[in-house]
Amino acid sequence: MLQQIQQSYNQISTREWLESRYQSYCGKNGSVTFGFKSLKGLSPEEKQVQWPLLKEAKDLVEKLYQQAESEYKRAEINAQLLNDPIDISLDTVSDRGHWHLLAQERRHVEEVAARMGMHVEYGHDVVTKYQNFYSVNIPADHPAVEMHDTIYLDRKDEFGEYLVMRTHTSAHQVDYIRRHGTPLELISVGRVYRYEKLDASHDSAFWQVEGMVIDRHVTVEHFISFMTEFLSALFGEEKKIRLRPAYFPFVEPGFEIDVNYNIGTKEGDDNRLELLGAGMIHPNVLQEAGLDPNEYSGFAFGIGLTRLVAVKHNIRDVRLFTNGDMRFVKSF
Ligand code: FA5
Repeated sequence: MLQQIQQSYNQISTREWLESRYQSYCGKNGSVTFGFKSLKGLSPEEKQVQWPLLKEAKDLVEKLYQQAESEYKRAEINAQLLNDPIDISLDTVSDRGHWHLLAQERRHVEEVAARMGMHVEYGHDVVTKYQNFYSVNIPADHPAVEMHDTIYLDRKDEFGEYLVMRTHTSAHQVDYIRRHGTPLELISVGRVYRYEKLDASHDSAFWQVEGMVIDRHVTVEHFISFMTEFLSALFGEEKKIRLRPAYFPFVEPGFEIDVNYNIGTKEGDDNRLELLGAGMIHPNVLQEAGLDPNEYSGFAFGIGLTRLVAVKHNIRDVRLFTNGDMRFVKSF
């Protein structure tokens, strides 16, 4: 009987056939099932002979059925995969995406600031002329307000003035002071946009980190020690900073801080690159935000995050961050 079963399975060529062959042996009315039922009418001696034979036959039928069934399943899955637009066998591990270098650094800056107990804010890319200029003491006739420096949208705000792509993260200073009150320790990271003549250190969209510290009796000395600590943490090594006097309408006095770097120049040249603008917050800005400048003082700074990353990673052209060259993106 075992031989007969084996042979009958060898001929099977469809799943339906497999099923009906199984039923013919082990189904409700199958021959092996019938054999088991018939054991009842046999003597104990006959049972002892017949039962192992039937059991062996049943085991073989089950085994052959399972084997053939799993073959059919495998074939079915293969056919499905061939027709499926999603190829799950594709090696996704080696090509897995990663954070863009700028995003990695942005997160690092946020972590450093949070460790120093600062709020982290984001603002938004589209702002009003009031936010970008007037609230921070930049008058309407300042050159930065001109179309040739600033990218305007074809939409107006409630005062009938065109909306602008923020040209600096300082656009949110007054909002943040109003929202968070004092004492204030805050950074805000975001992308800014300018109608810019492009070169190795100037892109038309780049990232800035705005920072503000306001309390009673904040002095330039606090500013210098804060900046030294913050920049050292960002660079991961002790930094000595050097201030140069500079003019920004929203600070008084104003400074610029440079770092050693030969961006856009030949290797070995000893150049300095302007990394950030900063200063003691102008009384007009404090007043605009509802603070009494006789009671409160503070400092603000705006770091070029794109430049910071370029300096840290020795990248010689800031436009590489945004030109979509995958060789660059993949190398960090
Ligand atoms: C400002 O944007 C001021 N809002 C900074 C500030 C904040 C001053 C608070 C005082 C108080 P500035 O235009 O210099 O300043 O830009 C700040 C930094 O952004 C620069 O030091 C530089 O690192 C970076 N930066 C400026 N222009 C570009 C550009 N086109 N491409 C890449 N980085 C730039």
